[in-house]
Amino acid sequence: MTDKKTSHTRLLLRLDAGAHDSDASVTRGLSALFARRWQAAHPGARHRYRDLVAEPVPLIDTSYCAFGRKVERYQDLPADGPTGLVESAAEARVWAMTRPYVDELAAADTVVIGAPLYNYSVSAHLKAWIDRVAFPGAFTDPSTGRSRLARTRVVVISARGGDPADGRDFQTPCLRAWFRRLGVTDERLHFVQADRTLATLVPHLAGERERAAASLGAARERVGALACVG
Ligand SMILES: Cc1cc2nc3c(=O)[nH]c(=O)nc-3n(C[C@H](O)[C@H](O)[C@H](O)COP(=O)(O)O)c2cc1C
Repeated sequence: MTDKKTSHTRLLLRLDAGAHDSDASVTRGLSALFARRWQAAHPGARHRYRDLVAEPVPLIDTSYCAFGRKVERYQDLPADGPTGLVESAAEARVWAMTRPYVDELAAADTVVIGAPLYNYSVSAHLKAWIDRVAFPGAFTDPSTGRSRLARTRVVVISARGGDPADGRDFQTPCLRAWFRRLGVTDERLHFVQADRTLATLVPHLAGERERAAASLGAARERVGALACVG
């Protein structure tokens, strides 16, 4: 597995999970802005882009669960993690499909995710990545027992059509809990939100346009600031 601690080059992993691939996409626009600013602030650094919609992550299946359950039985994993437990052709296939996602997340210094709010939660494309990448033991350093993501910065850029006061955002608590469980620290986990994005489109939300523009402006500023540190 790639270990960023031995790497001398910074890596930004950018993920887009919004189904609407157009200039109108708020999350795609903001994640692209983050990447541009980050690259300007870190000349020579590497940038890995994954469009989870154009290239969907394969949904997990029985063979993924079977290999995951086998790995769960071990208290101490081999030095090369789940790789060292691959025995059958089925396990080799599962791990070959999963490992690239694990490796690039573990190798990234900074991860930025364009994550629109869909039906109160994460998009199906992002959920497919979450389920696959969170393979048992994949982010535990076998030599220390600590998380390989303890120094990773994560910036989640979310957009929602409606009013944040409706209390129906289950995406933010879900992603916060998930990244925490993987070992990302609270100090390195950031959420940026643009609200009321449908105000420009939906006639009965026209009265919200000013607040929507202010929210987008604040999100752009925060994205620019977050891209310049770390
Ligand atoms: C399938 C789908 C489900 C949505 N569900 C919600 C929702 O639950 N709450 C909300 O405020 N907006 C919802 N929206 C609106 C999007 O969050 C909003 O349009 C957002 O800007 C989309 O991100 P994008 O601009 O990057 O495409 C939904 C949009 C779609 C396409």
